[in-house]
Amino acid sequence: MQDDSRSNQTWREALQAFDINADALAEFETLLSQQAKSHLQASERPGLSNQSKVEQCFYSSELPAQAKNFAEYSQLLGPAISGSVNTARPDFVGHMTSALPAFMPPVQKLMASLNQNNVKLETSGYFTDLERQVLAILHRCFFASQKGGTDRAVDDYYRENMHQPKQAFGVFCSGGTLANIMALWVARNRLLSNYKLAEKGLFGAMSAMAGDGYTGLAVLVSERGHYSLSKAADVLGLGRENLVAIEVDDDHRMDMAALRAKATELQAKGVKVLALVGVAGATETGSIDPLREMAELAGELGCHFHVDGAWGGAAIFSSQQRDKLVGIELADSITLDAHKQLYVPMGAGMVLFREPEAVNAIKHHASYIIRSDSKDLGAYTLEGSRPAMSLLLHAGLHLIGAEGYGALIDHSVNLASEFASLIQESEDFELILEPELNILSYRYCPATEREALEQALEQGDDSLVADLNQQLSDQTVAIQIAQAAGRQGFVSRTQLHLPHYGPSAIHVFRVVLANPYTRIEHLIQILEEQRTIAAKLAQ
Ligand SMILES: Cc1ncc(COP(=O)(O)O)c(C=O)c1O
Repeated sequence: MQDDSRSNQTWREALQAFDINADALAEFETLLSQQAKSHLQASERPGLSNQSKVEQCFYSSELPAQAKNFAEYSQLLGPAISGSVNTARPDFVGHMTSALPAFMPPVQKLMASLNQNNVKLETSGYFTDLERQVLAILHRCFFASQKGGTDRAVDDYYRENMHQPKQAFGVFCSGGTLANIMALWVARNRLLSNYKLAEKGLFGAMSAMAGDGYTGLAVLVSERGHYSLSKAADVLGLGRENLVAIEVDDDHRMDMAALRAKATELQAKGVKVLALVGVAGATETGSIDPLREMAELAGELGCHFHVDGAWGGAAIFSSQQRDKLVGIELADSITLDAHKQLYVPMGAGMVLFREPEAVNAIKHHASYIIRSDSKDLGAYTLEGSRPAMSLLLHAGLHLIGAEGYGALIDHSVNLASEFASLIQESEDFELILEPELNILSYRYCPATEREALEQALEQGDDSLVADLNQQLSDQTVAIQIAQAAGRQGFVSRTQLHLPHYGPSAIHVFRVVLANPYTRIEHLIQILEEQRTIAAKLAQ
């Protein structure tokens, strides 16, 4: 009897968590948003000691048996909030995550309230249609020139095809990694459909492929390709070693002669080139491959041409930058990350397919959902249950607009070029690469070392060049670590191989400019802080 009343009591308490009218809930919301606000508006980043305090708060592995109240829980969360990275800071310029438009949190709240599951119409209602529309809008931005001459013809094409059950202009997913995997999944299944690869698997298809003279499969990408492609090669059974990295030119763009030579060499060995992957906005350098030439070569090789535009694809919205993407319209598939330069909260990527029927290569059905005649998008996604992230992009497209997105891109590209000039004029930093978009790399290089390096290069003294570069790399890494541990600006670091500096890669600072609040003054301040750190380290 007592047990029954205890369990009734627990049941009533658990039920309270679902009561949207509870006064306590409004208080909880206020508590959380106040905590977030004071963290986001703090003038300093949390320091290291604060971070370790956060860690201590997450050591307990005890299951919380009884419910806490909202006030207790918000207190529990406090350290995590104050220890989180304020990616919205204008001097947080080291990664691809930055400020969000202020309207995104309310739209995301709406998304959570409606809790749609876009795997199927039965749980997504109109949101499947909305997602199909968003995909069509983006598809049109890239592929309109391939879909009939006049505006009217293009309009008609999209109107007729957008909601067709047996196809999709693309698929939404959680990010660029998933998008790259799905693009290569489609490429693999389409190109090897004769061998019934999707049904039999690579082992099953192998003997038939060998009978046709194939000894292996390969995907070719430049050295600047994102590591998600290696995950894709692994997951799809192609093998990481068969993701072949091709040299880049001095601007870190695909070296076309090297690509052609490698493709010819592989073909001569019986290796089928499954796909060429062009990068539009490389993660470390922002560089854009010669997409048109790559598309032409893919045509000659009879393989899939995928463009990884997770970062740079958004340049399509800028009339000043768009031409840099020329050739992207010839791609078979394009990866885009809405949670990068489309300013959607984390968890939104897409892959677009030039031919909407292409998705049938990865189509799956189940008898309880996504039946064969339905327009459920779950038939074409790697993920099953999936949030309606397309709503957030829908909001961005309507509340920022294409011109707004273009202006945001232009601002950051112009800022990158202004910062590059500033570095070039400075005596103690070396610009490593002129930014093609809004990612830039440089390193610490004071005048005396610079002169010594120039002399060593002139004299062809390779060992001295290597020693000096090592010294500059050590200094650059030490500065980056010290600055990251501090409370103001943040840049990231990476390693780049520059042929004129010999075989070893050098360490460089990496700056990613996408936050619309970042001004040149913030970047000047970052350089000043780095100078101060360098002086301290030299003592
Ligand atoms: C060029 C490129 N492709 C793919 C990805 C992977 O995207 P995500 O982290 O959204 O999975 C990234 C991430 O930085 C990227 O820069």
